[in-house]
Amino acid sequence: MSKQELLDKIAKEIMVCRKCRLWKTRKNAVPGEGNPDAKIMFIGEAPGYWEDVKGKPFVGAAGKFLDTLISILGFSRKEVFIANVLKCRPPGNREPSPDEIKVCTPFLDRQIKVIQPSFIVTLGNYSTSYIFSKAGLSFNGITRAHGKFYETTILDLHVTVFPTFHPAAGLYSGRYKKLLEEDFQLLKIEIMKHG
Ligand code: URA
Repeated sequence: MSKQELLDKIAKEIMVCRKCRLWKTRKNAVPGEGNPDAKIMFIGEAPGYWEDVKGKPFVGAAGKFLDTLISILGFSRKEVFIANVLKCRPPGNREPSPDEIKVCTPFLDRQIKVIQPSFIVTLGNYSTSYIFSKAGLSFNGITRAHGKFYETTILDLHVTVFPTFHPAAGLYSGRYKKLLEEDFQLLKIEIMKHG
């Protein structure tokens, strides 16, 4: 099977998943999308209102800002892969619960194994905490972790993890917007070194 076929198979399973309560309130599951051969994979938290309506990741206001940040890297959304920790929207955009994360993240793990990205960019506390735990790294909040490169092994894959803030934070605060833009400038330099 090709990488695309493997990702399609995972997406089909996600679309009919009933492993946690969120299937009852979702309009659409949001498996994630992008280039199966992506060098960079972005991981957000969970679908919001518009993602649930459209079945696609980061299509609301935070998504527009993410597109701008991705363009700093010289990439388009189609060239990278965008996924989330949770594949279904928590009602009212509440925070993901530990049991939801536990049952949903095997899907994310499978996506990472298929794509085999060189860089995993974690957006915000939830995805950073999850990926750090996989890597055996201790996590003390996104404010401390962001803007640094963590060369590590997760799921038998050698990868550089780069945590940054969730793009939604940049919509509320000019300070976070600036920090996000600075982090993406650092990321661009590192990606260019990588070739
Ligand atoms: N916020 C996220 O974390 N993920 C999305 O897909 C949209 C908003």
